[in-house]
Amino acid sequence: MLKRILPVVPVALIALVAAVVLGWPSKSEGDPQFKNVQVLTDLTMDELQDYMAEMVEHLGVKKCTFCHAQDKSSDEKEHKVIARQFIKFTKELNEGFFKDKESKVTCYTCHRGQEKPINKPEEEGKAEQK
Ligand code: HEC
Ligand code: HEC
Repeated sequence: MLKRILPVVPVALIALVAAVVLGWPSKSEGDPQFKNVQVLTDLTMDELQDYMAEMVEHLGVKKCTFCHAQDKSSDEKEHKVIARQFIKFTKELNEGFFKDKESKVTCYTCHRGQEKPINKPEEEGKAEQK
């Protein structure tokens, strides 16, 4: 009887050690309701919802579905994956260069309510020629 149980023990032990060492199962550090939040980990679910609503406005996209599939934790839409990179970039700017500055960079700083920022004056129409 004991002989049959014994071989199981080392397997369980290895799995346990692996779980601790590899940090598995990995969970977001933030709100336990988060399933796949990788950058905005210091927000609560309420704060995250506010941040999302703000992004919709800053990019002028009107709808959450610009980035999200039905399951909001899914990364199947490319816009969400790109947006995550921009969130990370903006966060790094604000925690780095803009740390002691009064105003911070937001998506609106560049996007101005546009899906893609206009970053050359010509694209806004020729400068006024009065
Ligand atoms: C411009 C793209 C974009 C828009 C628009 C957007 N989201 Fe998100 N959303 C993201 C990204 C990127 C993440 C993941 C953030 C991270 O990894 O830190 C996310 C994460 C989430 C999550 C967490 C899901 C999880 O993993 O558990 C929720 C909930 C959510 N968004 C709701 C919304 C709602 C509601 C709206 C509309 C008001 C919205 N989002 C609009 C990009 C967007
Ligand atoms: C420093 C300026 C800057 C900031 C800040 C910025 N973006 Fe962008 N973003 C750009 C530029 C420039 C492009 C266009 C890049 C290209 O054409 O490939 C872009 C493109 C995108 C796109 C792809 C749009 C498309 O239709 O392909 C998404 C999504 C996006 N940004 C989300 C965000 C979000 C969300 C934030 C705020 C968390 C943000 N960006 C902040 C400059 C910025």
